[in-house]
Amino acid sequence: MSKPPKPIGKLTEKQAKAELTRLALEIERHDRLYHQQDAPEISDADYDALRRRNEAIEERFPALKHTGGPSDQVGAPVASGFGKVTHARPMLSLSNVFNDEGVHDFIESVRKFLGLEADDPIEIVAEPKIDGLSASLRYENGALMLGATRGDGAVGENITVNLKTIGEIPEQLGNDAPDILEVRGEVYMSRDDFFALNERQEADGEKVFANPRNAAAGSLRQLDPSITARRPLRIFIYSAGELSSETAETHWGFLQQLRDWGFPTNPLSRLCTSAEEVLEAYADVQAKRSELPYDIDGVVYKVNRLDWQRRLGVRSRAPRWATAHKFPAEQAETILRAITIQVGRTGALTPVAELEPITVGGVVVSRATLHNEDEIQRKDIREGDAVVVQRAGDVIPQVVRVIEEKRPAGSKTFEFPGQCPCDLKTPTMREEGEVVRRCTGDLACPYQQVERLKHFVSRDAFDIEGLGAKNIETFWQDEIVTKAGDIFRLRDQRDVIAEREGWGEQSITKLLDAIEAKREIPLDRFVYALGIRQVGQANARLLAKNYGSFGALRAAMQAAQDETCTEYQDLINIDGIGPSVATDLVTFFQEPHNAAALEDLESELAIQDFEAPDDSDSVVAGKTVVFTGSLEKMTRSEAKARAESMGAKVAGSVSKKTDYVVVGADAGSKAKKAEDLGVEILTEEAWLDLIGGT
Ligand code: IVH
Repeated sequence: MSKPPKPIGKLTEKQAKAELTRLALEIERHDRLYHQQDAPEISDADYDALRRRNEAIEERFPALKHTGGPSDQVGAPVASGFGKVTHARPMLSLSNVFNDEGVHDFIESVRKFLGLEADDPIEIVAEPKIDGLSASLRYENGALMLGATRGDGAVGENITVNLKTIGEIPEQLGNDAPDILEVRGEVYMSRDDFFALNERQEADGEKVFANPRNAAAGSLRQLDPSITARRPLRIFIYSAGELSSETAETHWGFLQQLRDWGFPTNPLSRLCTSAEEVLEAYADVQAKRSELPYDIDGVVYKVNRLDWQRRLGVRSRAPRWATAHKFPAEQAETILRAITIQVGRTGALTPVAELEPITVGGVVVSRATLHNEDEIQRKDIREGDAVVVQRAGDVIPQVVRVIEEKRPAGSKTFEFPGQCPCDLKTPTMREEGEVVRRCTGDLACPYQQVERLKHFVSRDAFDIEGLGAKNIETFWQDEIVTKAGDIFRLRDQRDVIAEREGWGEQSITKLLDAIEAKREIPLDRFVYALGIRQVGQANARLLAKNYGSFGALRAAMQAAQDETCTEYQDLINIDGIGPSVATDLVTFFQEPHNAAALEDLESELAIQDFEAPDDSDSVVAGKTVVFTGSLEKMTRSEAKARAESMGAKVAGSVSKKTDYVVVGADAGSKAKKAEDLGVEILTEEAWLDLIGGT
């Protein structure tokens, strides 16, 4: 949360320096949101104000001006205006492994999930992980009909015209392709083309790109396709989306078909039959990395058999049948200017390293997480230290170590504040056995209040267009929005908003429309938006699925007074919810302020009951199933994943609410209990018959 800016005339040189760092970070972030994500959080006027403040401070303290700062950059804004495309099959992301052990673990997890024997061979295709941006291409009757970006995986942007400018993408396929063929791949720019493009851009006084990936992204997401056409983009295809008919039995076979149909595939892909071969393939690709004409950031491993891929399925947006083995993190040395403390929505205090901006692996890094106070102590990190920072993939940059030889004289050990940095200066506390220190202000702490509101409107929660973190902060400071329900009463505050700089009739209408559009909200999103400790997207979904409506969830949580009552037992009986999460949930719902805030929200919103997606024709949708004993045709994990993918709830123990108990060999007390309660008992075979599987 930012305080009102101090007048520039009153800044000391030290303050000015800190302020320039902060502004550089903020401007950089807004540039990214605007140019790369098409998701600006502040108005153009507010953005201009930031830049003006930066320039004014630099003018007053010319010695502090550093090259590469915001005033050195000229960014030609790209307007947003692509149509949205809902992917027929979601575009998934990948889990990561970072070392040999991770590779063995990955293969073992596949073996375990499928219930294979230790000596059953598992073929794996290893392919370079191209550092570009993914795109989906849809062909109908052989003709390229639709091209889209990944977006959030479910909905992307329609960039068909731009993709058609890439010469390597065939516009028409031969007769042997399925009627509907969706393929996915990575659009990239070669390093040479990137350097040449930057030279041209510089000569023309245009934006220079930080790395080939950004150049490819910036080129592909041009509203004017004639600009894209002049950019040397390329593509490698590596997977399928929707297919009207299965054409191959293995991924390796599919790659061959892709080549036959005229798609470029990566020549370094390799079919491996053991973990050792997989690691050889990794070492081989890594050795070739610097000579490759394009950037790669790791090697992707995919289970070769497509029937196994189908059985393995997806776990929280990443397939179980693939993983990415990332190359080691890139490191760089810089100065740690200051340690600041961030307060999260649950009061957790996170120390942050404010760094002298530095390029690490093609990206400018100016902040890094220091995790917690123990970490600072263990590494003896001090303000003013020279430090090694590292960045691996999308992971938040980290401070690896201090370069002690370069430590300035007179530096002091960092003392973690005993008070919250907010105006209330609330004491902080660290519970025994916890690494996190928390502000004890809970609902009173202004930082926590703002962070909770930011979370409430964030992308996976209410996702209100035009109401990002920045606007929430200013609305909160001006007391226009002090609690979540206020957001839905903003329409009564039109005049108050209009008085604020940067808001015009049009932008207010747009914001209010965006808010109206979110008055109706799916239950799981709503539960996630509440920001309850330990209730992320996955748990929110579990709760939505198990309780069905918000009324039912709230009533159960308020009734779960002690651990012996049915409501509490039902809660911890949900497979995936343990006692610790249960305690946080119950505490949240029983806290009077929260109860009042919920009542307020309910009066403004229409919270939709949970709807199980795509399984309306499934006979087990909404049913509660317990698996017990050892199953023969599949492992317990596979059984559970499959039941859930068909809309069933899987519980850990049998109760009156259980619909089916599926018993394998040697089933013990659970089968007995089912019998006592009169719950339907199924053999594994009967269960498979029921769900129509084999
Ligand atoms: S497979 C379901 N293969 O990496 C599998 N992805 O971190 C989804 N990527 O979004 C992707 N090279 O943009 C796959 N050979 C490759 C890849 C690759 C690059 C990208 C892709 C994906 C991201 C996940």
